[in-house]
Amino acid sequence: MNDNLPYLDENLGIEERVSDLLSRLTTKEKYILLASHDRRRIYTTKPIKRLHIPSFKMTDGPLGVSYHSSGLKKNTRFPAPISLAATWNKKLAGEVGAAMGEEVRAIGRHMLLAPAMNIHRTPLCGRTFEYFSEDPYLTKEIAIPVVKGIQSQGIGGCLKHYVANNQETNRATCSAEIDERTLHEIYIRAFRAVVKEADPWAIMAAYNKVNGVYACENKDLIRDLLMDMWGFKVIVMTDWFSTRKDQTTEGCINAGLSLEMPWPFKYKVKLLKKACNEGILTDKTLNDLVRKNLRVMMLTGAIGDAKALPRGSRNTAQHHDLARRAAEEGMVLLKNNGNLLPLDMETIDRIALLGPNLKKKFGGFLKGGSSGVKPPFEITPLAGMKEKCKGKIKIVTDASQADLAIIFAGLDNGKGGDSEFEDRTSLDLPADQIALINRTAATNPNTIVVLIAGSPIAMDDWLEAVPVVLEAWYSGMEGGRAIANVLFGDVNPSGRLPLTFPKKLTDSPAHSSGSSRTYPGDEEKKVHYDEGIFVGYRWFDKEKIDPLFPFGFGMSYTTFEYRSIHLNKESITHTDDAFIVELDVMNAGESSGTEVVQVYSRDIQVSVERPQKELVGFGKIRLKAGEKRTVSITVRAEDLAFYDIHKHEWVVEPGDFEILVGRSAQDILTKAMLSYA
Ligand code: BGC
Repeated sequence: MNDNLPYLDENLGIEERVSDLLSRLTTKEKYILLASHDRRRIYTTKPIKRLHIPSFKMTDGPLGVSYHSSGLKKNTRFPAPISLAATWNKKLAGEVGAAMGEEVRAIGRHMLLAPAMNIHRTPLCGRTFEYFSEDPYLTKEIAIPVVKGIQSQGIGGCLKHYVANNQETNRATCSAEIDERTLHEIYIRAFRAVVKEADPWAIMAAYNKVNGVYACENKDLIRDLLMDMWGFKVIVMTDWFSTRKDQTTEGCINAGLSLEMPWPFKYKVKLLKKACNEGILTDKTLNDLVRKNLRVMMLTGAIGDAKALPRGSRNTAQHHDLARRAAEEGMVLLKNNGNLLPLDMETIDRIALLGPNLKKKFGGFLKGGSSGVKPPFEITPLAGMKEKCKGKIKIVTDASQADLAIIFAGLDNGKGGDSEFEDRTSLDLPADQIALINRTAATNPNTIVVLIAGSPIAMDDWLEAVPVVLEAWYSGMEGGRAIANVLFGDVNPSGRLPLTFPKKLTDSPAHSSGSSRTYPGDEEKKVHYDEGIFVGYRWFDKEKIDPLFPFGFGMSYTTFEYRSIHLNKESITHTDDAFIVELDVMNAGESSGTEVVQVYSRDIQVSVERPQKELVGFGKIRLKAGEKRTVSITVRAEDLAFYDIHKHEWVVEPGDFEILVGRSAQDILTKAMLSYA
């Protein structure tokens, strides 16, 4: 208890403490708190020593605590977010969030710049691996526990990049041209849900413009929607250097931007002072912006009794174990002809291991961009396979002399191959990898391809030639071990694709026109989202295009049967209602396995065009061989809603819905009717 400085008294409420501290700050100190430190310290704010306000410290994510922003500290490298989404496991996502929060705490920082939640619009986006899904529902369902997990450690989560940062090409200058319904229904939807349900302590405005206005000075999106409509009261920061361009101090102030990173451009003290003198920045607005930042400094314990802060922990055996478990659960078995997998230790003498990703390590300084986490060690596929095969199976390099060959193919999480700053230029694997796969398959029919990549890969040139494909993503520091566990059946794969794999680029919505208008943008750098709400599987359904692998797809070493679907209600009446989908799922195979039961809705009587199906619920269930259990999945009526451009709000229209249950967006096994009255 500190009688003289009530804002340091953690027994008082946050608002009281913030008001007290605000009353002690000079105007200049308030200006200082609206931007970060200086050119050398680009992840921290300036301390105000006189008032015991320390520097507020951030670090990059979202694969763990980045190397470059943590004082070059090596930390647990978790699987990429696309892999986490592929687990369809909310509990696991929460555990990963909490572990990342503990690691941020352990390096003495207050905020993790994660999760990244942009929607996968184009498979070429360099940051597809950092984002969760093409689907807003899956995105929010994974992001919510991640944020709750991070914040359970008193560390701030920061949703990024708000909004429509769906490509890296021209990201700082392009304008995402999106109609109102699409903007809300696809691109904003998950941000809204996570703000409402997980109460994140910061949001990062994107680099790009949205309908001609830079995201960081977009009053409609920040002040009007995020703050006034959704009640967001905490930090709104820029993406790094994003205000260096032709944004204005006035625009940023009016939009409600409260923290300019990484050093003052538009929020230089002299510019803020001028804005004050000109009446652009009123005392009320200034206080309001500063309050947002102070709140988070208190919530994270940055202001208060530093000794009382938890110390956190990093690189613990538990965190490494968690990284491995998450990697295993995110892997998606795409093809398994003749049940070649799982591999049988007893019957194999020699395995040939090949491919450019066999010995590659993926964690490094800014590798993949700002998300680069360098772990203390990294189990490569080769190391994982050697460990597994030791003393039992001989590892060779000549496929013609082996029982089977495994090619570790994919991308390299480097420039142009799944990385920030640059999109991919093709959906294909590099030509030498395609040649390697076909050549190997010609010598050895038991050729397995393990893809290590963070975005969809076209496979028409080689898929027929091989019996097995496993999508391993960027699977973190324990990746090699996790891959070996899946290949040998210690783990039965249960990952499901969080995005559609198209056969070819022009099948996907942003590229179907073949015109630069829809990607990467016209001569004015406007990217026209002409496909509207039909992104991902919504597009493939509408256009009746066969994907290579559909959204939600993933095989198992066992088989599941679905029976007796039942809804606990025949009708619902309010948007805050919910209903329960119940069905029996049986493991009809011979090994234990985990199934992801997916619930989609189809709006049958509605005044606007809606997708043929939209994900509205899912559940994951583990079943022993022969076991049958009832799965109950709660679906909320608000997830059946669409965005009404006349009312400017979310609406469920009275009428019937089909509730579809299946194993992927293209494998619906059973359905039931529901009415909304
Ligand atoms: C990225 C952000 C990141 C920031 C800070 C930017 O280049 O877009 O995701 O948090 O840098 O490193």
